[in-house]
Amino acid sequence: MSLRMAVFGTGYLGATHAACMAELGHEVLGVDVDASKVAKLSSGEVPFYEPGLEELLQRNISSGRLRFTSSYAEAAEFADVHFLGVGTPQKKGEFAADLTYVDSVVAELAPLLTKPAVIFGKSTVPVGTAARLGAMARELSPAGDDVEVAWNPEFLREGYAVQDTLRPDRLVLGVDETYSRRAREVAEEVYADLLEVGIPFLVTDLATAELVKVSANAFLATKISFINAIAEVCEAAGADVSVLADAIGHDERIGRKFLNAGIGFGGGCLPKDIRAFMARAGELGADQALTFLREVDAINMRRRTSMVELTKDTCGGSLLGRRIAVLGAAFKPNSDDVRDSPALNIAGQIQLQGAAVNVYDPKAMENSRRLFPTLGYATSVRDACEGADVVMVLTEWKEFRDLAPDDIATIVREKHIIDGRNCMDSRVWRSAGWTYQGVGRK
Ligand code: UDX
Repeated sequence: MSLRMAVFGTGYLGATHAACMAELGHEVLGVDVDASKVAKLSSGEVPFYEPGLEELLQRNISSGRLRFTSSYAEAAEFADVHFLGVGTPQKKGEFAADLTYVDSVVAELAPLLTKPAVIFGKSTVPVGTAARLGAMARELSPAGDDVEVAWNPEFLREGYAVQDTLRPDRLVLGVDETYSRRAREVAEEVYADLLEVGIPFLVTDLATAELVKVSANAFLATKISFINAIAEVCEAAGADVSVLADAIGHDERIGRKFLNAGIGFGGGCLPKDIRAFMARAGELGADQALTFLREVDAINMRRRTSMVELTKDTCGGSLLGRRIAVLGAAFKPNSDDVRDSPALNIAGQIQLQGAAVNVYDPKAMENSRRLFPTLGYATSVRDACEGADVVMVLTEWKEFRDLAPDDIATIVREKHIIDGRNCMDSRVWRSAGWTYQGVGRK
């Protein structure tokens, strides 16, 4: 059955969710306070890079199932299922999450809800937020207890957002045991096609649903910092962390995924989510339980400074007056997202130490320029490498992994390559006369 729904927030999460819900046959209204985003999306243009999303968006706009607006009144009138997909960034100068956007959606929407409605929160929030928003919605809405808030965390990865939304590993729904009336059955209608193909559906209380999301991200971050810590030991001992990861990854209990050593995790989720998790645990008096996440964060940040040190050493002890080619700016491949990107962070630090940095990324140039306007930007791999003393690969885009030493050998000043993602074949580069340095590798 087709439902009428509104999706608040049209960033990576909301825009993808809106398009995917329309793809499932629902009638969807995407809502954003940013009129320029609404205009772009309405014309079938995705304001960020996400493989497959633009086709999905255009197809569903043409079919008439998907529209966008800035009007909350229109959304309240149109839909009886509402998804909350706005951001929860880190507060400035604090670890905690900034809930301004989440709160303001409910504060603005609830007074306009005159008929029964379910608000499904998808944003990553500190545990306890959903219950608080539920109380706020009941109080502010003329429909009172007929408006309920449930939590339906989103686990999508950028770069695979469409696939992760239409074929998630699992669906999690947190409902308020005291007030819930219809959230579960509405969710079963929303996701009927997914449930039909057997996607696991876990229904729980609000707090558990909120914690599932942050725990999943904390686990992933820990896995990456674990292998990066082992990489440090490998470097000290002259061992190879890539082979080590392959070997321990064969154990099904461990698994090979998320065991790639490198310059560490970044992006709009993992770094801020582990910090918000620590802050919230502290408020709840359970701070001791998560002190290990401080170490996870510290190991991750150390990768960035040690990469800068390695580059400096490669240049003979000083970066002053050197030319460094930085290949990759996005926090990971298949994305144009540069939020807390380790690659850009490293590029910035190297420049601050006196080097001329030339950055190239297949998709993230515009976002990088906006965030770090003072870095040098190149138009291609070759342009970035022109006259370089060191070539650094900091995001493992396929274009960089496919690079052959001969492609750039004649244009660089010195043949030094630093592989911050362990994604290049060291033997190929070394046998072509380059020095090759990876992370945790001989
Ligand atoms: C993450 C979670 O995976 C997703 O479930 C959640 O909904 C949002 O946060 P995302 O931020 O898109 O998704 O990126 P992810 O693929 O998890 O990568 C995070 C970072 O870890 C990237 O910077 C990536 O380069 C790094 N990473 C990943 C490693 O350094 N090593 C690895 O082995 C894997």
